Amino acid sequence: MELAVEEIIARCHAALAEHTPLLAVRDVLDELVSDPVSLEQSLGAVETGGITTLHCSEDLTVLQVAWTPGISLYPHEHRMWAAIGMYSGQEDNRYFHRIPGGLEPSGGRELRAGEVLLLGDDAIHSVANSRRDFAVALHVYGGDFFSVEGSEWDKETHEERPRDFERTRRLFEEANARWSSQR
Ligand SMILES: [Fe+2]
Repeated sequence: MELAVEEIIARCHAALAEHTPLLAVRDVLDELVSDPVSLEQSLGAVETGGITTLHCSEDLTVLQVAWTPGISLYPHEHRMWAAIGMYSGQEDNRYFHRIPGGLEPSGGRELRAGEVLLLGDDAIHSVANSRRDFAVALHVYGGDFFSVEGSEWDKETHEERPRDFERTRRLFEEANARWSSQR
């Protein structure tokens, strides 16, 4: 059954009122990603990589994120909990800890279609799509994703700098250009 985007947002909103919002959001995403055909009908087929904002308010942000094949986003933090529901392709997540002067790797997880990943509000991660199809997910955050200040780190040197969404946008643009020239 096709779901309206408003219905997806309403379900996430309702989860915020539960005792443990992050776990309630996980349940919502578990159900949504179990039916990727309906999600794709609701959100549209992905033809290019990027971040689409479905909802953004003070206590909730819902994004559709489509990682372009070959893209690799440097380590960053959100400073709020996050739940990622993968419904097509695969995201390669690496985790990091802060150490004096930089970051220390602390494992990772390959997130496949049909799976949900939870991140605490102190998580630092990087994301890559190493496959040759788009990696598409619903990302739900417990706050205003674009307004809360945070850090990102250079991929090579791990030098810390303020989060810069314009830089992220350019990274997608470059990855999209590379991918379309390869096909
Ligand atoms: Fe992230």
